[in-house]
Amino acid sequence: MPPCRRFRSGEPVTHTSESATVEARRSESSSAAGGSPSRHAAVGPGDAALLSLLNVEVLYADVILALKGVSLQVAPGGCVALLGANGAGKSTTLKAISGVIESDDGRVSAGSVAFEGRAIRGHDTASIVRHGLVHVMEGRRVLPHMTVEQNLIIGGHLFPSAAQMRRALDGVYQAIPRLADLRTRTAGYLSGGEQQMLVIGRAIMAEPKLMLIDEPSLGLAPRMVEEVFAVLRRLRTQGLALLIVEQNTRVALEIADYGYVMEGGRIVLEGRADELRANEDVREFYLGLDREGGRKSFREVKHYRRRKRWLG
Ligand SMILES: Nc1ncnc2c1ncn2[C@@H]1O[C@H](COP(=O)(O)OP(=O)(O)OP(=O)(O)O)[C@@H](O)[C@H]1O
Ligand SMILES: [Mg+2]
Repeated sequence: MPPCRRFRSGEPVTHTSESATVEARRSESSSAAGGSPSRHAAVGPGDAALLSLLNVEVLYADVILALKGVSLQVAPGGCVALLGANGAGKSTTLKAISGVIESDDGRVSAGSVAFEGRAIRGHDTASIVRHGLVHVMEGRRVLPHMTVEQNLIIGGHLFPSAAQMRRALDGVYQAIPRLADLRTRTAGYLSGGEQQMLVIGRAIMAEPKLMLIDEPSLGLAPRMVEEVFAVLRRLRTQGLALLIVEQNTRVALEIADYGYVMEGGRIVLEGRADELRANEDVREFYLGLDREGGRKSFREVKHYRRRKRWLG
């Protein structure tokens, strides 16, 4: 494995403006019958995509169709937000990419998943990590009785030498200085934000090119959310690509250059992050803002949530 792939120089890659059209659409569900690629194939970073999903379907327990033809792309060094209400299929999408779906009694039943142009659908999680794709699951799963450094070492278990392990640890401490201060602390006693930084640090020990991260802001105080996203922003500038699932649409669209909105196992809206921020439906439904930019009351938004269906 080449050393420290995440620390590549240069500016993060962003999606081009041709990909900019915010597009509400029914995702063409697919492909079980060999259907044609969705219109999404024509947008995004195209052939240069680091990650590319085309018409992916996921079945749980062989009966529950949780993803109904999901297509999305992430450019090298790019940052993509995956948004949507509870149960939309966001976590399932990440699990389908990383292979974790298998341990949830699920499977990708149709479509393709490619990383750097290589098909990874059905590959086991360990080999996907070796290719440079890591998945930070929801819930900050630290090993609570171990120290911060021991947790990080577990993330670097694939290194063949102590010297490589040391270099990777130093890289993590440089990227997330707070972890250096906490290195001897017991992980279970860290705050939620510190634990979130630890699971991010553990994931970058594998020297990934792409990190999938599920709800990093969940349950954190606003100050901690800012700190965690500052870490993600720093990793971005060092060349790491991100696919972020978030309920906190505002912070997600601040860091991302492109976004997708899911509902009912489909992508129903996509576009450049600045366009999604300006999109009236997204502003009302996810940011809780009215036309003039004023904050709507919770009651209004709740009513709106009941009324509004993307696929109405
Ligand atoms: N292990 C499972 N077995 C059966 N159905 C599942 C399983 N995991 C998820 N589902 C179903 O798949 C659908 C998508 O769930 P998923 O967890 O991907 O949604 P989500 O968008 O991540 O929601 P949330 O915002 O609540 O995390 C839901 O209807 C959910 O009930
Ligand atoms: Mg989820």
